[in-house]
Amino acid sequence: MLDHVTELLHLIARWIHLIAGIMWIGNSMLFNWIDRNLEKPKDPKPGNIGNIWMVHSGGFYEMEKKFLEPSQLPKTLHWFKWQNGITWLSGISLLILIYYLGASQMMIDPEVSAISSQTAVLLSVASFVGAWILYNAIWRSPIGKASTLATLLSLGVVIGTAAVYFTFLSGRAAYIHVGVLIGTLMTGNVWFVILPSQRELIAATKEGREQDPAIGYQAKQRSVHNNYFTFPLLFIMISGHFPSTFSHPKNWLILAILGGGSAAIRYFMNVRFTEPRWLWPAFGTFGITAGVVLIMLSDRDFLSSSAKRTTPVAFTEVAEIMHNRCTPCHSTTPTDATYKIAPNGIMFDTPDQIVRMAPKIKERAVTLKNMPLANVTQMTVEERETLRAWIDQGAKGPAADAPAAQGSAVEGH
Ligand code: HEC
Repeated sequence: MLDHVTELLHLIARWIHLIAGIMWIGNSMLFNWIDRNLEKPKDPKPGNIGNIWMVHSGGFYEMEKKFLEPSQLPKTLHWFKWQNGITWLSGISLLILIYYLGASQMMIDPEVSAISSQTAVLLSVASFVGAWILYNAIWRSPIGKASTLATLLSLGVVIGTAAVYFTFLSGRAAYIHVGVLIGTLMTGNVWFVILPSQRELIAATKEGREQDPAIGYQAKQRSVHNNYFTFPLLFIMISGHFPSTFSHPKNWLILAILGGGSAAIRYFMNVRFTEPRWLWPAFGTFGITAGVVLIMLSDRDFLSSSAKRTTPVAFTEVAEIMHNRCTPCHSTTPTDATYKIAPNGIMFDTPDQIVRMAPKIKERAVTLKNMPLANVTQMTVEERETLRAWIDQGAKGPAADAPAAQGSAVEGH
């Protein structure tokens, strides 16, 4: 019952997260695009910053960006803040539901570090608060005016925090934490810098004075940051579906390349109208990114320390391993404390099921090593190597075992 409630909450939070996220990033990209494409009319009206004409859904739209006189301030002004607020809140709900409540399986990987679930959750919360405080302090301090230094320091904060994640958390949790970190910095920028600047703009307009330029300048800086954060963040959001990224032994490098590469592509999209000379460097970046990723993804056979097994593997050996390490979850009658029904409907109760699933077993238990989940059943490196050898030798069923070995096959368990 509780399982179903959690799953329903999870579904609702994820659905809301997706809808709000599309609205937030969609708005933000549209406004960025409009800003870059504004044209100065021939005889601009006072206060005019630029105009743009668009055609969409059965009509023409003319939009003017401008400064207002106090008397011109309209009664209704549309803000765009809850798209961001709801994206962040639903994202944090997902983090709690999936990662904090399932910390022992989702956040911990004994091969990465032996911290407790509580420590992992504390570390997670502290990292978001701490990173925001540092990042915000950098840009509010005098260093914030020397953009290059401040940018390098901010990258330092993000990379340093990510290094903590990769040192202590499972690969998958580390990825999503970098995502939540970036999303939190973006949300902090919206609520603590950009919205106050808009309030100041309105107050200044009402009082008929110039807006404090420092406040407007800071808001512009943060909005540029958010612009660059979007592509890496969107990659991280979908990365959970791609174990070859987060389970790779160099998962941090893949994230760094994809994060850096996608921010560079964002840069190309920003400047392509005004500075075509960036076209080729940007294509270059994209090529390098794609190339390196392909190489890394093709290097998937990364069995670590154990010696290669060359002797024949009997099916009984395999059945024994699967019975000890996998059927606690993947069975018609699971014994695991969390999984009461076989995950993804995958079961390894009969020889037939095991033989049929051999390619998937290789993928998850040998290549990616993300099964058993969080290695709760403590599978050894030698056992993984035995599975690999069995599959490479043709993944034969019990019929191929030497007569002496038969009889003790999987039915006995
Ligand atoms: C603690 C419970 C648990 C144990 C033990 C476990 N798994 Fe899983 N397994 C899961 C869960 C949960 C999923 C679904 C989530 C996912 O795909 O990562 C899953 C998914 C899978 C999938 C993906 C199926 C698909 O739809 O693509 C395979 C293959 C798999 N497990 C194989 C194994 C093997 C082989 C072992 C033993 C070496 C094992 N699992 C042990 C919990 C477990």
